[in-house]
Amino acid sequence: MSGFLIKTFGCQFNQLYSATIADALTRGGHRPSESLGEASLVIINTCAVREKAEEKAFSFLGEAAKLVGASHIVFMGCTATLDKERAVRIAGRGLNVVEGTADVEHVLAVVGTVVPLGELDCTAPHSLFPTADIELVRGCESYCTYCIVPRARGPEVVVDVGEVLHRAERAVGSGFSELLFLGQNINRYRSSLGGLVEVMCSVDELDGNFWFWFLSSHPANFTPDEVKRLMELRHIEHRLHLPLQSGSDRILERMNRRHTVADYGRLAEPIRENADWTLTTDIIVGFPGETDDDFAHTVDAVRGFRFDGVFLAKYSDRPGTPSSRMQDKVPPAIIDERHSFLLNIVQDLSEQSNQVLAGRFLDVLVLSAHAGGNAFGRSIDGRNVWFLCSEPVPGIGTFVSVAIDHSSREGLYGTRVF
Ligand code: 5AD
Ligand code: SF4
Repeated sequence: MSGFLIKTFGCQFNQLYSATIADALTRGGHRPSESLGEASLVIINTCAVREKAEEKAFSFLGEAAKLVGASHIVFMGCTATLDKERAVRIAGRGLNVVEGTADVEHVLAVVGTVVPLGELDCTAPHSLFPTADIELVRGCESYCTYCIVPRARGPEVVVDVGEVLHRAERAVGSGFSELLFLGQNINRYRSSLGGLVEVMCSVDELDGNFWFWFLSSHPANFTPDEVKRLMELRHIEHRLHLPLQSGSDRILERMNRRHTVADYGRLAEPIRENADWTLTTDIIVGFPGETDDDFAHTVDAVRGFRFDGVFLAKYSDRPGTPSSRMQDKVPPAIIDERHSFLLNIVQDLSEQSNQVLAGRFLDVLVLSAHAGGNAFGRSIDGRNVWFLCSEPVPGIGTFVSVAIDHSSREGLYGTRVF
């Protein structure tokens, strides 16, 4: 018996692979450790999208190497693929590095050389219960000029539609309440059945009480008609995450996003016309060449689309990307200023978006519940909900109805009604 500690940076793909490894380790008789001091296996699953996450991973690696030794560490994910040399310089020669991000079996084979593992269950990792993450597309070929993902994760590999539907059916059949379909640009999914919408229609026909949604969409590979068809499905969550990145057409072109703000508006329209749906986005501030005028367009777009939530990032220069070779970088002080200006607006929008729900009843998926009656969940439109409930407290993964009495920018507060 030995303890393992998994440190995960970055996207939902990394969460999925970390959870799959955690499951295999648990089945092999290992237990999670709370601290580096107690762990005899440390797995660091890295993200290269922004410099900050990379620096954190390298500093964690340095600490882990001192405490547990390089031969008990597995260094994996995007940074491990792109900069193995630096990792070995920090930790020492014995470090186990997994290069490549596509193949979980390969990762497990490396982990298995350090400690024995249990069997792999392909349904969905139990440690993410009640959500079953299911990959549709691995890798990315969209080549946004700022993004390291196409280099780190490589070309697109599409998962066979039969396998996708099989996993979805097994997950619902074994009690998962939510399916989350994944692809860096999920709108590029293609199969014998059709694209994303056709597969989601088939998922919608599965028997059972479940919700589903998907990440991430790309406006250039999506049509308003597809958005409308998805909105009609019975089991779909009432939320769309659609990255805009910038509100300036000039910057979108330099980002190689292949759409305009007006194109985005046509996709957002059916969502904005339906008060039961939320729209969230990603925005990068300070992309090379972004002028005050470009930034003002982004501010206008964020206000105009009334986003319910925005993941706001400062542009981070990633070596090897086309934008890293652009000459007209925005000074860090200006990026900071624009970031905090927009952050205030984004937070106000989230607060307003939540405010209007006081007095309403919402369907909520229970994610945690404690004796004494404090519970937490997520509403069908993707909001955090903290609520009180009388005994018996609802089980994780059940659906409840919550009467909302007040809100903050972080979420909603209320009481279970049944
Ligand atoms: N700098 C800042 N943000 C980035 N993202 C991707 N690459 C960068 C970068 N170099 C953001 C984008 C993307 C999200 C996953 O991360 O907004 O949608
Ligand atoms: Fe990066 Fe663009 Fe691919 Fe998203 S779609 S992973 S931002 S290259």
